[in-house]
Amino acid sequence: MKTILIIGIGAGNPDYLTVQAIKALNQADVFFFMDKGQTKEKLNHLRKEICERYIQHHNYRVIEAPTPERDRNEGDYLKAVDHLNTDKQMIFERLIIEELEEGQCGAFLVWGDPSLYDSTIRILDAIIQTGRHALDYQVIPGITSVQALTAQHKVTLNNIGRSVEITTGRRLAEGLPDNVDSVVVMLDAENSYKTVVDQNIDIYWGAYLGTPDEILISGKLEEVAGEIERVRDAARQANGWIMDTYLLKRR
Ligand SMILES: C[S@@+](CC[C@H](N)C(=O)[O-])C[C@H]1O[C@@H](n2cnc3c(N)ncnc32)[C@H](O)[C@@H]1O
Repeated sequence: MKTILIIGIGAGNPDYLTVQAIKALNQADVFFFMDKGQTKEKLNHLRKEICERYIQHHNYRVIEAPTPERDRNEGDYLKAVDHLNTDKQMIFERLIIEELEEGQCGAFLVWGDPSLYDSTIRILDAIIQTGRHALDYQVIPGITSVQALTAQHKVTLNNIGRSVEITTGRRLAEGLPDNVDSVVVMLDAENSYKTVVDQNIDIYWGAYLGTPDEILISGKLEEVAGEIERVRDAARQANGWIMDTYLLKRR
């Protein structure tokens, strides 16, 4: 039997690692680093730093694998993600066959928490369902970018007795959800908060949370939307990429 550990490493700060995650890091024989695009270098650098800082031996290997990207010309978003996950599954299977010996333990270091906008669990499930591998896996939770955001802004996620929705920029652009007064928006490449600027909302925005480049802006959306857009564009140009998340709260 081979074992895979899907380890949540928190969303930016190496101090976000839990004791459980540190114990899991020390069990793994092989680490698979899977990031893509412009963020790859920075995120893999952090993963290496985490391994060096927390692993108490040198008997581990790191395999950096090229990760396929979503076809941005495919109009159907879900179809594009489905194709992407099939491609990733093939790469994961190859890594498990070629890089992991029977009885060994491999680890995927997942940014934030593996249950939030991440496909690693889904892909491992799909691999096990093929029946082609004797494989077991465990999931170790991590501090999400949502938790990093609320902690840095010193704000609660929910209002008392009320619901929270976590959604994407793409969905927010279709309108604010009903019956929810707190909305977290992730994966927003288009400044979608601008589409709800006329509503009575406070925004808590954070970029590069937990890292030395962290930027925080908060206030009444109609008053700070312009500033967020300017700061966001400048940061993206300066760094070549941006990762940001925000919480919208109806006033
Ligand atoms: C593919 S999702 C991964 C989420 C991750 N699993 C988590 O638990 O936060 C990537 C999105 O998470 C958000 N994100 C992740 N890390 C972040 C950070 N350090 N600062 C701001 N936003 C972050 C951004 O919205 C980004 O587009």
